Amino acid sequence: MPILLAASRISTLQATTRCEMAFYCNADEVRARAIRDCFSRELPDLRFVAAGEPFEPEEVQYILTWKVIPELRERYRKLEVVFSLGAGVDQLRFEELPQQAKLVRLIEPGIIALMQEYVVMATLALHRDLPIYLGQRAEAEWIKHPIRPAFGVRVGVMGLGQLGQAVLRALAPFGFELAGWSRTPRAMEGVSSFAGDKELAPFLARTDILICLLPLTNATHGILSRTLLAQLPMGAGLVHVGRGQHLDQDALLEALGSGQLRGAVLDVTDPEPLPKGHAIWNHPRILLTPHIASTAQTDTAALAIVENIRRHSRGEDMIGEVKRDRGY
Ligand code: GLV
Repeated sequence: MPILLAASRISTLQATTRCEMAFYCNADEVRARAIRDCFSRELPDLRFVAAGEPFEPEEVQYILTWKVIPELRERYRKLEVVFSLGAGVDQLRFEELPQQAKLVRLIEPGIIALMQEYVVMATLALHRDLPIYLGQRAEAEWIKHPIRPAFGVRVGVMGLGQLGQAVLRALAPFGFELAGWSRTPRAMEGVSSFAGDKELAPFLARTDILICLLPLTNATHGILSRTLLAQLPMGAGLVHVGRGQHLDQDALLEALGSGQLRGAVLDVTDPEPLPKGHAIWNHPRILLTPHIASTAQTDTAALAIVENIRRHSRGEDMIGEVKRDRGY
């Protein structure tokens, strides 16, 4: 009898726990399956609900999603954390979340490694004039341009979060002269640090290859403007792996036309997909990729989310937690 009683207490407890804790995984089926496997090992007490399965929004404390889910504020009243399925959170708006809910960017080893690879590839491509040689190949032109080693070539990264810092670490072995610009000062060994509006002009003036890894916020919307591009040294290069809305695309085309920019590598555009016939598609000085620089790797992402759930339950800050006031 006592055993039965105990068992029924356990099941009541479990039922209560179930009601109190649910993780809603709004990812595609393949990803959801892998994340579920990880969660059943690491957080067996947390009820896991995948998209398409029945659940009560009232029971959901955590959501993993790329896009905003309708009626979050009205129906998910116990929601505590929304985890973005990507490094960016500009597609998820605080105004649409319940007041108490936190928003977390996905920072995980897979996203970081892929971004390092892409930015190294793009920076070297500009440094070694790849857009120009691809153009020449199309015309069967055998023309050599002066080459120089990376030593002395000044690379500048805008945005010194985890991705920006990782990218600078990956570029360091080539010998580029490295600098970073961020809203507030960030010290990094071997990297000249510039911060705030006042230090933007000197940062740009010393930057031969500019890499944009900024988050998209009201303050950074349109930041890669005509005025900004004009402050780079003549013949600079641009690697854009932020968001399409950072960049004034007409200004980019003008800067390439005038020689202010020598080449650009774009992984993001506005809009996406870039409409057929847009001048960027066939521009001889632009290398374009369809927003593939980096993407979350499910296994490592699942572990990063588990770690953040543990931090959250201990009352600690989560990795990638977005501050409401600054939007990243
Ligand atoms: C991709 O752009 C991401 O935000 O992860």
